[in-house]
Amino acid sequence: MLTKKIEDILNRQVEREGYSSLLYLSMASWAEASGYPGIARWLYAQSQEELEHMLKFIHYINDRGGKAIITGLEAPPNEFEGIKPLFEAVLKHEQFVSASINEIVTACIEEQDHTTNNWIQWFVTEQIEEESSVQEILDKLALMGEHNLYMFDRDIMSMRSEEDSGE
Ligand code: FEO
Repeated sequence: MLTKKIEDILNRQVEREGYSSLLYLSMASWAEASGYPGIARWLYAQSQEELEHMLKFIHYINDRGGKAIITGLEAPPNEFEGIKPLFEAVLKHEQFVSASINEIVTACIEEQDHTTNNWIQWFVTEQIEEESSVQEILDKLALMGEHNLYMFDRDIMSMRSEEDSGE
């Protein structure tokens, strides 16, 4: 059984994962409309992953005797200044998500909820991977330069498959 404090902070994360999915969906749609099909595919896949994260939280809350709450979500931005600022925004958002996962770990320790603390560790690891894969993209962008976005767009999905095949 979850304490109220843990149930509430997990429900806050349901909302944050849902917003992450919506944010990347908006970025994907922008990239698709702006002529970057590879970057769009990467972002659509990322949006799907965030939806799966949200579902993990929903199922966990409900399975542990709580009640998952689905709220309305804030509208994500629809315009982006370019590819580099877009991925900088992704990194910033993932850092925000990592911080909020850390707050859940702290709450678990305070509430002595070892079960949830054990369960949330998957997300702690996932956040390390998410931040590093976005950092890798930003490093590659810096290396290739913004004038070579055609090649970057062509290559970005192969960065993802390497990563995925490594799982
Ligand atoms: Fe589900 Fe990218 O955090």
